Amino acid sequence: MRDSSGEPALGPTDYDAELRRHDRILRRAAGVRLHDRVLDIGCGSGRTTRQAARAAGAGSALGVDVSAPAVERARERARAEGVRNVAFEHADAQVHRFPPEGFDLAISRFGTMFFDDPVAAFANVGRALRPAGRLVMMVWQPAERNEWDVAIRRALSEAQREGAAAPAGPDAFSLGDPSTVEQILGAAGFADVAFTDVREPVYYGPDVDAALDWVRGFTSTSEALGKLDPAASERAVARLREMLSAHLGDDGVWFDSRAWTVTARRP
Ligand SMILES: C[S@@+](CC[C@H](N)C(=O)[O-])C[C@H]1O[C@@H](n2cnc3c(N)ncnc32)[C@H](O)[C@@H]1O
Repeated sequence: MRDSSGEPALGPTDYDAELRRHDRILRRAAGVRLHDRVLDIGCGSGRTTRQAARAAGAGSALGVDVSAPAVERARERARAEGVRNVAFEHADAQVHRFPPEGFDLAISRFGTMFFDDPVAAFANVGRALRPAGRLVMMVWQPAERNEWDVAIRRALSEAQREGAAAPAGPDAFSLGDPSTVEQILGAAGFADVAFTDVREPVYYGPDVDAALDWVRGFTSTSEALGKLDPAASERAVARLREMLSAHLGDDGVWFDSRAWTVTARRP
């Protein structure tokens, strides 16, 4: 079976499968060159770091993430795939002491929206870039433009009326507003900030069961469900299942999404 992009059908969901369409766009925007030294911010399990390392055959890539298990997974995968010019550090990109001017390019696939102090964090990344070094990151547009978020919230909204608090915590949409991002990056010392609208669907799994497992794994979903009594939780899961069924096509469960590719340059 093929998905609607003409590629082989996908198996069980993970973040790499979910974002496969976005991945290609970020890769093109990043345009990693042979000798580049690349920093991947909030690298997760390191797919984009490995891709950058492969493109920078005579350079290198460093992935950093605050999650120790993610960094361990990233190291294992790089070892398994035999990518040698790649390294990973368990570090908070907001404060980590990177080598000054040690990188030509900083990239991120949805790993820059969670800083406590975004100006300080991007200034820190800026110091790690050489003059004229580039920042290329993908971030979500506002929640209401992202069908996946709207649909999940709607399915859970009755659960919230039944006593579960609205999902709080890290805001995946914190860089959705271009004027806010321009302000943050400007204050952090970046120039030439530009945005490209990305309209690609996200993949949630080959069938409704897999998609439901994936969505129940989101922190916001599991927190909302965890606050309900068993009967209310069962009803909320049934609503999620129904909503996911409505998004099932021949090639699995997909949702529309909107993101920005943000590019900027260190003067
Ligand atoms: C949505 S995930 C994206 C992971 C990865 N970029 C990918 O596309 O597979 C966001 C990642 O950012 C990491 N993160 C959040 N705040 C961070 C910080 N201050 N420094 C480094 N990593 C951070 C999280 O631990 C998480 O792995």
